[in-house]
Amino acid sequence: MERFELAVALVRQAGAALRQARLEADAVRCKTGHQDLVTVWDKKTEQFLRQGILNEFPADAIMGEEFPAAGDASPETVWYIDPIDGTTNFINQHRNYAVSVGCWQRGEPLFGLVLDVENDRLYHARAGQGAWCGERRIETSRRKNIPELLLFTPDVIRTFLEPGRDELLRLARDVRAVRSIGSVALEICAVACGEADLCVALRSCPWDHNAARVILTEAGGAVAAASGKPLPLNEPCAVLAAGSTEALELVLERYGRYEAPQQ
Ligand code: IPD
Ligand code: CA
Ligand code: CA
Repeated sequence: MERFELAVALVRQAGAALRQARLEADAVRCKTGHQDLVTVWDKKTEQFLRQGILNEFPADAIMGEEFPAAGDASPETVWYIDPIDGTTNFINQHRNYAVSVGCWQRGEPLFGLVLDVENDRLYHARAGQGAWCGERRIETSRRKNIPELLLFTPDVIRTFLEPGRDELLRLARDVRAVRSIGSVALEICAVACGEADLCVALRSCPWDHNAARVILTEAGGAVAAASGKPLPLNEPCAVLAAGSTEALELVLERYGRYEAPQQ
């Protein structure tokens, strides 16, 4: 089986298990604080995905959220795994969370998969082959008139209310509306399928955005660090995603470039 087919099968199995999952009272733990949570299901799901990948492709490296990076120090193929993106939603609402799996080879994208678990919607893209939601081809909105744009951000407080966010606040006032799902991967996919026009995620890790960025760019969108520099593959970064390169450039030009500190 090829990597893409394997990934689709594993992600679908993981999603089916998560839909059935029930959280026991002791299943939730704080990591760095009360807003940074992990459940037994995050760990179980990541272990399941890692095992499934390494059984078939033992030389591949894996960068996932819940366990230390595995594999060669300078590997040819790297997988980026977020077993549950939107853990808080998983705990509190049991919806709006995703399984996110991206695969890159020699620094170039192979494919990205983001499963919106409860809606059973699989966003997928292979490099050069367009972006899809299930069997439907998806494209970005291509809107670039600022008052018509819908802006998604996964963390409203961090994006707009911390010191030094005046320009982002001005952007929030200029766009049509701001919405928050609480999952970086699903919010970038919302831009990919034209349900949103922009996404600003000031605290994002490779496993949060590396699958969705493949889907977005295959759908005609563009992604960069919020500083305007290219988005790195292997480091945490503040992310700006847009429906087109033009829209991305316009926002950077009019609302400034952010070197947001990572925590
Ligand atoms: C988080 C979510 C959240 C975003 C955080 C991410 P997690 O991922 O995507 O919306 O604001 O920056 O870390 O912890 O649910 O996998
Ligand atoms: Ca995440
Ligand atoms: Ca996670």
